[in-house]
Amino acid sequence: MLTATRPAVSLVDRYTAAFPGSKRRFEVAKTLFPTGVTHDTRMMEPFPVYVTRAKGAYKWDVDGHKLVDYFVGHGALLLGHSPDDVVTAVQEQMARGTHYGACHDLEIAWGQLVQKLVPSAEKVRFTGSGTEATLMALRLCRLHTGQPKFLKFQGHFHGWHDYVTVGSDPPYESMAVPGVPESVAANCVSVAPGDLNRVEAALVGDPQIGAVILEPTGGHWGAIPIRGEFLRGLREICTRLDRVLIFDEVITGFRVAPGGAQAYYGVTPDLTSLAKILAGGLPGGCLAGRSDILAFIEPRPGKPKMKHPGTYNANPLSAAAGVAALTRVATGEPCRLANAAAVRLRNRLNELFETRGWPMVAYGDFSVVRIVTRYHGPRPRTDAGENDGLIPFGCDLNQLDGPKNPKQISAMRQAMLLNGVDLWGFAGMTSCEHTDAIIDDTVRAVASSVEVLQMEGQL
Ligand SMILES: Cc1ncc(COP(=O)(O)O)c(C=O)c1O
Repeated sequence: MLTATRPAVSLVDRYTAAFPGSKRRFEVAKTLFPTGVTHDTRMMEPFPVYVTRAKGAYKWDVDGHKLVDYFVGHGALLLGHSPDDVVTAVQEQMARGTHYGACHDLEIAWGQLVQKLVPSAEKVRFTGSGTEATLMALRLCRLHTGQPKFLKFQGHFHGWHDYVTVGSDPPYESMAVPGVPESVAANCVSVAPGDLNRVEAALVGDPQIGAVILEPTGGHWGAIPIRGEFLRGLREICTRLDRVLIFDEVITGFRVAPGGAQAYYGVTPDLTSLAKILAGGLPGGCLAGRSDILAFIEPRPGKPKMKHPGTYNANPLSAAAGVAALTRVATGEPCRLANAAAVRLRNRLNELFETRGWPMVAYGDFSVVRIVTRYHGPRPRTDAGENDGLIPFGCDLNQLDGPKNPKQISAMRQAMLLNGVDLWGFAGMTSCEHTDAIIDDTVRAVASSVEVLQMEGQL
């Protein structure tokens, strides 16, 4: 454990001394990549860690540290790192060919698994990523409804293409997104989450809004949790007002339950975007949903056809990984284990915060854990389950998902890495490989890290 009794050496100095191999690599990376990293969320002060291998709930860095992982492949690794069944499937496929430029059996098996598990999946179309899946969803909606606009919720993330960037980061009211033409952004109507009346008023007031898209357990993977009542209300409004309802299940699909949030809550959207777990940790996505909407991909007399190529659509390696992963997901066991691990982590953290009298609370639904600071409200129930725990700060968007404090997040990451845990700042996701013992180690790491941050004046 990182000792909290050596204030003479600062946290950042201890971090720098412990991870010299990563520091060296970052110096090179900065000469290559803007910001030195290849994904915005991998940015970290003073430098990120470089990983050489990963297995189960762990990854190992270039300096030989064994780290419990809560990034889990940006949510893609419900089965943990390098699960044997997925590895074998990909290795076997590798030897048979990586890209046929042709149709193949695995894409059929993969599509059938999606159709079997996901209630809305009448038809399926594979894409290269989740971003491509939401891009496709919105273009198909424009063709189906004849309307140019869509409604999204502030704080909900749907990838990085031009149409969905509005309202995904604070300040949420701003329509200006650097690099996105105003004429494109104007097609997005973004509203605060959680208010069905506001949604209804927006849809009634603007007949040009043809579709509604959301992360069905709440924006930024459940930072502001959404539960069944809201989804049922939204479904009713969209049906009554004849708008297309899109669930973006890129995170929640196959994670919340084998059939995603829609199966768990019994609310079927018209379209569903999927990626991450879908492709078993390899690149890949898909759009699934109503046959009559996906039919715009087909050439039909008198109807416009949506063009959809994509070099890596249903790539055989991704298909092999996806079939192996979804075959296991279909048993229900991975979701059950990952959810149980997160429930344990949330509960143990809340016990810790309460015992120490720290103004902090852990919350989240399913296999997501989030920690908030400066919290003095009511304590969560200890018997809270997968999706009925307390939502702090009365679900306030700016308190739970407002402007971030990058210095504090980096300090937490440094302290947690020194304690052998790669936590996503103050949040993380579990996999089915996060055992009780790993969770208990993580709680000890949080205890030690919070003490260090307190001494550093970061908490
Ligand atoms: C809910 C959601 N939608 C879409 C995306 C974009 O997916 P991808 O990164 O595969 O493009 C993400 C990525 O994190 C996501 O979380």
